[in-house]
Amino acid sequence: KILFGEGALPKEVDGYLFPPGFEPDSAKVAYDQIEINEDDILIATYPKTGTTWVVGIVHQILYGDNPTDLEKYSTLQFFFHYLEFGAVCKYDVWKKLSFPRQVFATHLPEPLVNMKKFKANGAKLIYVIRNPKDQAVSWRHFVKNFAYTKSEFWKPFFPEDEKEFYDVYLAGNQHAFAKKRKGYLECIKEWYKHKNDENVLFLVYEEMKKNPHIEIKKIADFIGKSLTDEQLNNVVEKTSFASMKKESEKTAPDNNEGAQFFRKGQIGDWKNHLTVAQSELIDRKVKEILGDTDIEFIYE
Ligand code: A3P
Repeated sequence: KILFGEGALPKEVDGYLFPPGFEPDSAKVAYDQIEINEDDILIATYPKTGTTWVVGIVHQILYGDNPTDLEKYSTLQFFFHYLEFGAVCKYDVWKKLSFPRQVFATHLPEPLVNMKKFKANGAKLIYVIRNPKDQAVSWRHFVKNFAYTKSEFWKPFFPEDEKEFYDVYLAGNQHAFAKKRKGYLECIKEWYKHKNDENVLFLVYEEMKKNPHIEIKKIADFIGKSLTDEQLNNVVEKTSFASMKKESEKTAPDNNEGAQFFRKGQIGDWKNHLTVAQSELIDRKVKEILGDTDIEFIYE
């Protein structure tokens, strides 16, 4: 396994610590190298907040079931959009792409993304948020499959015991994607300053779950595609949790390095996993970190 293997150590770039697999340095190179134009779309998220879903929706809207060039070239099925994964083999392909729009994804913190370049070239930004309780639960189930979390170095950061796991995670001790001891909520805050900029669409996972037709139409309008009712229904159906999961099962699981991108796809699973104290800790952190924004997470 290339990305999440056992010997993997964290990488630090500009004070941000990244888990194994991330190539934040190469992503920076990519920003300098790739051509960006006004048709391109960047989907920025924190892990486990609905990235794969939104990438799937944008793809369905733009290309239907036709694979893009990048998909044809890519060996790592789910990583081809990410600027910071599997980069080495990817940039050369990116340069040759013939399809009209590029759909990029990134989990990088905002200060590491060259938003100036994206904006100057008129590219669009979609940012997705999800309530931090379900995000935490989704994260635990996701990383369980990775060999690195069982290695000597990482084991203390990824306890087997469920309660301990969340305690460590919520204390910001898993070095995930943000400056030391900071995490998801701080990353949202960094991106949220773009909320009212031109060419920016903020989406909420739970709203997409509750009103897929409305939210998917919003995405289509944003990327300049008008859909008939029939087309819209088709995108909703093709990007439902059940359809996407089924579709993903057709491809060899090896393509994804053991990463499972489709687990439950529900709102409120946190109630089955977090203790009351952990849930209250999240409530306090949300107030402390995002209290001065208009973000109100949906927990059920
Ligand atoms: P759960 O682990 O709670 O099920 P990401 O793509 O950012 O890694 O996020 C993964 C989460 O989104 C997982 O959450 C996954 O099941 C959920 N998901 C993926 N596709 C989905 C879809 N079509 N509808 C709803 N949720 C989806």
